[in-house]
Formats: sequence, C-alpha cells, structure tokens
Amino acid sequence: MKILSVVNGKGGVGKTTTSINLAAIYAEKYRVLMVDSDPQGSATWWAEQGEPKFEIAQETDPKLLSKLRSISEYDLAICDTPPALRSDALIAVVKASDYVVLPSLPSPMDLKALIDTVKGTISPQGVSHRVLLTRVDPRRINDAMDAQSSLMAKGIPVFNSMIRGYAAHEKSVLDGVPITQWKGKNAREAESDYQRVVDELQREWGN
Ligand SMILES: Nc1ncnc2c1ncn2[C@@H]1O[C@H](COP(=O)(O)OP(=O)(O)OP(=O)(O)O)[C@@H](O)[C@H]1O
Ligand SMILES: [Mg+2]
Repeated sequence: MKILSVVNGKGGVGKTTTSINLAAIYAEKYRVLMVDSDPQGSATWWAEQGEPKFEIAQETDPKLLSKLRSISEYDLAICDTPPALRSDALIAVVKASDYVVLPSLPSPMDLKALIDTVKGTISPQGVSHRVLLTRVDPRRINDAMDAQSSLMAKGIPVFNSMIRGYAAHEKSVLDGVPITQWKGKNAREAESDYQRVVDELQREWGN
C-alpha cells in the first residue's frame, strides 16, 4: 500500500477538500482508504453525509498511524491531517508517508508560513512532496503563476496544476458528495482541477 498525506500547519487551506477529492478520483481505479487523523473529524463528518466509494477511518493515535502501512486490504491510503504542526498524529503520518501534498493559498503570507513548514518539517524527513495552490481566484491566475515561480526559485516543488476557488467546492461538501459527483455551476471546472493533480501525480510519482 502507498500512503499519501495532505498537510499544512495552517487551517482552512483546503486539506480536507483535497483529501476527499483525491480519494474520490483514485477510488475509480484503486482500493482507497481515507484516514482522518484530524480530531476535528471534518472528513469523517463529510463521509457521513453521503455514500463515498472509498472507506474512511478516523484515527488520531500516533502509534497506530505509524503502523498504517501494515494494512494490506488497500492500494492507497490518503491521510487528512490536523492544522497543527506539532501534533504527534501529524508527525506520525508524515513519517509514514510516501508522498506529501501541501495545499496552500497563494498569498505571500500563506506562502511564507508554508516555506518554513517545508524546510523545517517536511524536507528533513526526506519524503517526496509538492505544494498545491488552492482556492485560487480564477481572475488572478497570473498572480498564482508568479507564486508558483517564486516557490520553484526557492527549490520548493509545486504542482503545475492549481485548484481554483469555486463555490462548487463548498456546496458539494454540503451535499456530502465529492466534486466528481456534484452537479451544479462550475462543477466540471472544479472537478478538472483535481483531475489534473491526479494526472500530474501519476506522471511524477507513478501512482
Ligand atoms: N477550491 C476551493 N474553492 C472554494 N472553496 C474552497 C476550496 N477549497 C476549500 N474550500 C472551502 O474552504 C473552507 C476550508 O476548506 P477545508 O476544510 O478543506 O480546509 P482545511 O485545510 O481542511 O481546514 P482545517 O485546517 O480547519 O481542517 C471550506 O469551507 C471549503 O469548502
Ligand atoms: Mg480539514
């Protein structure tokens, strides 16, 4: 089993939304377990609203999280994490991961905090990782591309794809479905952003 985790010490940057949508897209091809290691339980709450095509387990015990790989019934585990860098659960998940996706808003202040996190917490673990710009204002794509370039100039890997900010992402959560199953304004644009992330992961990571 491969383990992908979704991490950022900051709250409200799209970790849970990213975890749910990546899990839903991968579940079309693989046996996926979504692990909710956030005591807030947002991903678990979301799963209770609908009927996801992947399994979901809430687990915040660092000892058990560090043994995640021993679960053999799944091809891929996707771990949502709490917005707390010093959380023992988060540290256990990062250590167990094959790949870390770091969602961040593209604003300079968000990126400053993220760069410190990558250099202080993620890079030292030697785990493959990539920043994903999220909630990008569709009218300000150029600013987000500048943000991507400045991250790359600092040696921080970043996805070419970015997740635009659409109300569709909030509404689909209310309806308890991933964006792939939601029907409404901008649903297909919002879905294609996450589909492109999976395509990029497949090229870069092979999964
Ligand atoms: N691409 C997007 N476009 C519009 N709204 C979004 C997008 N991504 C996330 N949101 C909304 O932003 C809010 C925060 O998203 P989410 O809960 O995924 O963040 P989080 O990083 O998991 O937060 P926390 O740290 O509190 O767990 C939610 O209301 C969500 O619906
Ligand atoms: Mg969350």
